Amino acid sequence: AGPVNEALKPLCWLIGKWKSVCAKGQYPTIKPFTYCEEMEFISVGQPMLNYKSVTWHPEKKNPMHLESGFLRIKPGTNQLAFMVGHNFGITTLEEGTVGENCLDLKTTAIGRMCFAKDPAVTEVTRHFQYCPESQHLQAVVCMATCNTPLTEHLRITYEKSC
Ligand code: HEM
Repeated sequence: AGPVNEALKPLCWLIGKWKSVCAKGQYPTIKPFTYCEEMEFISVGQPMLNYKSVTWHPEKKNPMHLESGFLRIKPGTNQLAFMVGHNFGITTLEEGTVGENCLDLKTTAIGRMCFAKDPAVTEVTRHFQYCPESQHLQAVVCMATCNTPLTEHLRITYEKSC
């Protein structure tokens, strides 16, 4: 992959593979659940990270929600754009900023195929926080749909897997 691009310096704490130590899902319309996840932000030398997340059922082990995309940074700034394809039929373009060991994103565009499952997602926000002491990464994902205002959907604690 070569050296990490200079532009990615503010994101160096995020680079690599992560696995969930605790992943919980909830939403006002559904039964709370737990799941397992592997997530990676991989550098191939470009001023962006290649992103992939796979989740599976903790007992049955079947795949659940899958995402892949790119986390881009505007070189020389802390400005981010996260382009994500979701296996359930939507794409999200999320924009925001990276701070010291944290990042915040919020959708600026959502694509949805005509036969995607209802209800339509109208907003997604993500907050990532890295704790250098525990070396754990925490993520909180909130969403709004055409039926429900912005509410927490996911809360995950990850540890580095390599
Ligand atoms: C339900 C969106 C990530 C598991 C839902 C619903 C939506 C949604 C719109 C239906 C809510 C309703 O009926 O009111 C999203 C978005 C995600 C995301 C936008 C990422 C940004 C995940 C992840 C998992 C997950 C990572 C982990 C396995 C579930 C489950 C349900 C659900 C189990 C309830 C059953 C179902 O409707 O399939 N999600 N989700 N979601 N989500 Fe997510």
